[in-house]
Amino acid sequence: MSHTTAKFLAALALLGGGLTLSTHAPAESPAATAAANVCAGCHGADGNSTVTTFPKLAGQQQVYLLRELKDYKSGKRASEIMAPFMADLTEANLEELATWYAKQKPAPGVAGDPALLKVGKNLYLKGNSKTDVPACASCHEDDGSGYKKFARVAGQHVEYTLEQFRLYASGKRSNGARVMQTVAERMTEQETRAVAEYMASMP
Ligand code: HEC
Ligand code: HEC
Repeated sequence: MSHTTAKFLAALALLGGGLTLSTHAPAESPAATAAANVCAGCHGADGNSTVTTFPKLAGQQQVYLLRELKDYKSGKRASEIMAPFMADLTEANLEELATWYAKQKPAPGVAGDPALLKVGKNLYLKGNSKTDVPACASCHEDDGSGYKKFARVAGQHVEYTLEQFRLYASGKRSNGARVMQTVAERMTEQETRAVAEYMASMP
């Protein structure tokens, strides 16, 4: 068991025993405490990760988060990094974590490359009729906030998004809707980067 997993389990055990929390976080839920102890190391104290390969979770759709967590646990969504942290969590723990992250305030996005934003915005709102790429906005909403199983994409790190597109296109991420694999296969590298930059720039 890794050090961080041990810390996480200790936090959960403490809460399960009904003991009071440290005075620093008297009103926090078990999930919040667990998140602060383990997940925060990568995803940030409030779910707004600063490392660009670790996805931001703050304000993400609860339904989406829960599905992904369950899929990491079952192995349907493969990740060597995430899997060990799921192993000892119950379904109730996953639900609390999903609910907690969904309630956190997302940090506004930052654009890396303004030159690509125009191309990215056009693709996001209208798709590409020549290559049958559907408008992202039709599922992820105009403002990128998502809805239930449709992930929030606003403000997400470019690095993380590009990696997910590689995983979709190569068929390595196949736990969800088939549409994302199709979308990723049809997009050029330039289009993918442009739309990733645009999504990252959304507030
Ligand atoms: C060592 C760093 C690390 C730790 C600790 C960690 N994660 Fe992750 N997390 C990642 C990485 C990397 C990914 C992207 C993996 C992939 O490509 O599927 C990820 C992905 C996720 C996703 C999917 C997000 C999305 O937009 O699809 C969720 C949800 C998540 N983590 C929740 C958690 C929770 C809850 C914990 C604590 C129990 C946790 N993570 C601990 C690194 C970490
Ligand atoms: C028909 C609906 C639909 C359309 C159109 C669509 N998506 Fe998605 N997208 C989804 C669903 C559902 C998910 C949830 C994850 C999954 O199913 O793999 C998702 C997941 C994603 C993710 C992963 C989010 C994360 O945190 O890991 C990204 C990035 C994404 N979509 C970007 C796009 C972009 C860019 C476009 C347009 C070029 C687009 N999507 C078009 C339905 C759609």
